[in-house]
Parts: sequence; structure tokens; C-alpha cells
Amino acid sequence: MKIPLGQIVALGLGAALAVAIAMPFIRHAPAGLRLDPVQVESGRQVYGQYCASCHGSHLEGQANWERPGADGYFPAPPHDASGHTWQHSDAQLHELTAHSVYAYAAPGYRSRMPAFAGTLSDRQIDDVIAYIKSTWPASLQAYQRVLNPAGIDFKDLPPGWKFPPTCRFHGS
Ligand code: HEC
Repeated sequence: MKIPLGQIVALGLGAALAVAIAMPFIRHAPAGLRLDPVQVESGRQVYGQYCASCHGSHLEGQANWERPGADGYFPAPPHDASGHTWQHSDAQLHELTAHSVYAYAAPGYRSRMPAFAGTLSDRQIDDVIAYIKSTWPASLQAYQRVLNPAGIDFKDLPPGWKFPPTCRFHGS
């Protein structure tokens, strides 16, 4: 039996389309903005003990955090909506907390941000990141979620959510 070329091409295209349609559902499997309350509570305690002294007990950061001080060091930035913590993926936030800012800084850069790898477990670092995220409005949680490899399933976002005005993500 001879199968016409057009039919083979159509079958191939059909299969490619089916995979393309299924992909987002596979990639975005654990969707939504739900955070584990037990993890958030553990992170709240870690934050109070290890982060609040510099980043503020209300995550407000230190004054004039956008400019280096007279000593040449940047002050601690806020972790709330006014800062830029929400513009980093989970993996970047983990790296920044575990090993300070050096992976992202120019050679020779000096920072007051401590490396917590020897002090906190990976689990505690993930907990504190979950706590920080839990304080953000849904719009920031949504933006930050897009930066992670697992992405986000937009249909799981709360009704009426919007990206923040400063958001640089223009996808849909
Ligand atoms: C001794 C003060 C100090 C403590 C304690 C501290 N930080 Fe920082 N942190 C800083 C400073 C200063 C910066 C800015 C670093 C720079 O740009 O040089 C910073 C930057 C960061 C950043 C990257 C910037 C951002 O907001 O996106 C993250 C993430 C961060 N800190 C998380 C934490 C976490 C989580 C804790 C607690 C486990 C913590 N820090 C404790 C001083 C501190």
C-alpha cells in the first residue's frame, strides 16, 4: 500500500501539535500559588533569627538600599514588594542566601550579605524563601513564579490578579 506524502506530513504535524498542546500541562504540573503553611511558619522563624536584623522585621530593608553607603557597601535591600527579591527565581534566591551575592557580582565585589550555607540547611533556606514569598501580593508571587523552570499555570491565579506595573514579563 502506498501512503501519499501529504498524509504522512499531516500525521507528523498532528503529532507535533498534540505534543505542543500537552507540553504546558506537563511542565506546569504543580500549579497555583499555594505555599505550604508549615514551611512558611518554619521560614518565618528562620527569618526572625537570621535575616530580620539587616533586612528588617517587616522585610522593609535598610534606608537608601539602592545606593552604596559611604563605606562602599550596599545596605540590605527590602524583601517586600518595594525591593527586587521577587525578580529572582527560586534557584537564584537559594544561591544568594547560601553563598551571598558573589555568583552575580563583578570580580572583587564586596558585600555585607553573609553566606548561610554553613549555618542553615538547604531546607531552612527554602523555608525562608517560602516565608518571604508568602508576604507578597498575588501579582508579585505570579511574576516570580514565571521565572522558575516550572513556570505557572495562569488559570490557577486568583481572580482579578495583575502583573505589577514594574513587571518586565510581557508573555501571556
Ligand atoms: C548582616 C546583614 C545581613 C543579614 C543578616 C542578611 N542579609 Fe541578605 N543582604 C544583605 C545585604 C547588605 C545585601 C545586599 C548585597 C549587595 O548588594 O552587596 C543582601 C542581599 C540579599 C539578597 C539578594 C538581594 C535581593 O533582595 O534580591 C537576598 C536574596 C538575601 N539578602 C537574603 C537574605 C536572607 C534569606 C537572609 C537570612 C537567612 C539574609 N539575607 C540575611 C545583608 C544581610
